[in-house]
Amino acid sequence: MTDSDTFLINEYVFKKKIHADSIKEKVEELASIIRSDYKDADTITYIIVLKGAFVFAADLIREINVASEIIFIDAKSYGMNLKSSGKVVLDIGDLDLSGKYVLIIEDIIDSGQTMAALIKELSTQKPKMMEIAAFLSKTEAREVALDIKYVGYEIPPDFVIGYGLDYAEQGRHLPHIYSKI
Ligand code: IMP
Ligand code: MG
Repeated sequence: MTDSDTFLINEYVFKKKIHADSIKEKVEELASIIRSDYKDADTITYIIVLKGAFVFAADLIREINVASEIIFIDAKSYGMNLKSSGKVVLDIGDLDLSGKYVLIIEDIIDSGQTMAALIKELSTQKPKMMEIAAFLSKTEAREVALDIKYVGYEIPPDFVIGYGLDYAEQGRHLPHIYSKI
């Protein structure tokens, strides 16, 4: 079990920045806003962007506590690097979102390239309502304009791990958010 103030991956030191207790409160806060904004929906269709968003999505969806349809979408742009490659690989399978109340759940929005590509692809399906919930947002790093309705935390453009987010597949299990120093 890891609950220390720092976490090491290879030569990198990551320092605890957001505590799990704060995260829990934040998720409750976002969930109650989303529940009220989506009050007309019998079912909310959640599109969870793999892999990083799986922890945030699991907490958020249970906290919203409304009938749901769960869809996972694979989007990769980082690989083994600390910087987005700029080339986004999407695998959306065969989706039908027409007339649905959709919420896209993402772990973090950095340059915005991944989300912009996803929105472009998904909006052709004419959902009744489609919004973005991002656990973290690095607004300073944004390269494309995005309208993100629900944001957990705005953070500086440093690399973070924990709560589902990884560096080279490590650190996803951490209950807190850690930032590279
Ligand atoms: P973007 O396309 O630059 O906005 O990058 C978004 C994707 O990159 C996210 O879905 C994450 O998977 C990954 N990412 C961006 N910043 C971080 C970070 O600080 N830690 C871990 N993954 C990140
Ligand atoms: Mg991601």
